[in-house]
Amino acid sequence: MMLRVTTPYVDHLRQLVDAGIALNSDLTLDGVLQRIVETAATLTGARYAALGVIDRTRTGLERFITTGVDDATREQIGELPRGRGILGVLISEARPLRLHDLTADPRAVGFPPNHPPMRGFLGVPIMMRAVPYGNLYLCEKGDGSDFTEADEDITRLLAAQSAVAIENARLYEEQARWLRQLESLNELGAELASELNLDVLLGTVARRLRDLVGARIVGVALLVGDRDMRIQAADGDRADELRGVKLSYGHSKSWRVLERRHSELVDDMASDPEVDGDAVARFGGRTGLWVPLIVQDRPLGVLVLHDKLGADPRFDQGDLRLAQTFADRTAVAVDLSARVARDALRRVVAAQELERRRLARELHDETGQALASILLGLHAVEEAKGGAELRVATAMLRQLAVTTLQDVRRLAVELRPKALDDFGLVAALERLASGFSEQTGIAVDISARIGDTRLVPEIETALYRIVQEALTNVAKHAQASRVSVVLNRSARSVVAVIEDDGRGFSSRPEPSDGHGLGLIGMQERVGLLSGRIQIESTEGSGTTLVVEVPLQ
Ligand SMILES: Nc1ncnc2c1ncn2[C@@H]1O[C@H](COP(=O)(O)OP(=O)(O)OP(=O)(O)O)[C@@H](O)[C@H]1O
Ligand SMILES: [Mg+2]
Repeated sequence: MMLRVTTPYVDHLRQLVDAGIALNSDLTLDGVLQRIVETAATLTGARYAALGVIDRTRTGLERFITTGVDDATREQIGELPRGRGILGVLISEARPLRLHDLTADPRAVGFPPNHPPMRGFLGVPIMMRAVPYGNLYLCEKGDGSDFTEADEDITRLLAAQSAVAIENARLYEEQARWLRQLESLNELGAELASELNLDVLLGTVARRLRDLVGARIVGVALLVGDRDMRIQAADGDRADELRGVKLSYGHSKSWRVLERRHSELVDDMASDPEVDGDAVARFGGRTGLWVPLIVQDRPLGVLVLHDKLGADPRFDQGDLRLAQTFADRTAVAVDLSARVARDALRRVVAAQELERRRLARELHDETGQALASILLGLHAVEEAKGGAELRVATAMLRQLAVTTLQDVRRLAVELRPKALDDFGLVAALERLASGFSEQTGIAVDISARIGDTRLVPEIETALYRIVQEALTNVAKHAQASRVSVVLNRSARSVVAVIEDDGRGFSSRPEPSDGHGLGLIGMQERVGLLSGRIQIESTEGSGTTLVVEVPLQ
């Protein structure tokens, strides 16, 4: 390209150098594109300038940045040009094009209504490493003359500079996006590691993934058994309707993806016969991205994304990679949470088993023995000779029957205090405490401020059992004279504090042959309710247990 150096050219070159510096000082792509358009208009004296960014199919435009047309006019024109007519020629040929009257060209398709009249035209491609990125369009020189070869030259120089600035801005944005993704992935990792509630966990995954990729909707479907898959969590448009939806076996993309264990990108759901029983397809999704959740070769479910937000609803390879990273982490977390739940259940079952064994032993040793003695006593009644002997034998029998009855009642209460179901936690604890004081001689103060509405049964049972075990420990280990039990309820949680003035303990002995499981059992119960327990004890100065259970 030859530049004729005349005075206006020196001015232009200076402007061009300035433009280059300005272009590279803006780091957002939108900012850079807008500056390019404005600089092109200034350099050539064009009234209107625009920059069209070519879309992925290389047949149309995905963005159109303009200057010279005010907002009101733009609104009146309506939809942005898609790249047909003369603009289409520039896209397909990627060569500069100069026209005296663009409306007179046989390839023109005409302007939409309300479009300002434009005739003089100069179009120049912006090439990025030999691939067309977009085009600069200039219309209507201010003085009414045609665009000159000099205008073309200067615009080509600007286009070359623009390519560098666009590339820089893209790299910068890409890097910023990558950093954001990395941060988000790190945060997700931390959240997944500390969250055991599956619904909360999957909700977090859906929300974060949707945020990062920018999708209309993200769902997480999990296998239930062999032939059942349900959307367990969803985020975005109509998420509420999606949650809980069952994906019909065999007739949906999700099932296919799960069977093949391969992620899939679908640009047009309507023309993919496998997309059938998929819930979003029914709601009118256009594109989809499916990623299987797999742990050690075991499929657990599928991550599903629909409709990328923005001008182009299709997902790209970058989105796929990101979704796969999410899927890997989610699969591990889902697996872990299932294992923890199984483990907790197993321990609860083991604790129940232990409790049953203890009760069986008591039934055998105490109640069984007592009933055997009653049988013997009956024998004595039968054998009794005379009124006095009979009276003594019956009195003894009555005494035996009374203590046995008390034993059976005590056992029944231990199994499941009726008061807990009938009158609630506080009444049940008061009974427990008075029985405890009677048996042990240790005074118990109960103070409860937990309002009149009942707590949910799981929390009532857990708190009852914890206080029960704490009192048993006091009787067994503390040599205390007083115990206080304080319950407090706030909007968010209920707190129980059990404090004794006994001898305390410095370190907990290792559990052995079925003993030493009381405190562990408490921790487990509280853990299942997502609560916390704190055990404070020093030798010689009593023990305090603080239990907090959240109310949601
Ligand atoms: N209130 C307390 N005062 C003093 N020591 C206590 C108290 N509570 C617990 N301990 C100590 O902590 C240990 C562990 O208690 P934990 O309830 O776990 O087991 P355990 O009572 O020994 O057996 P289990 O409850 O399984 O029948 C006890 O053995 C005891 O040494
Ligand atoms: Mg105990």
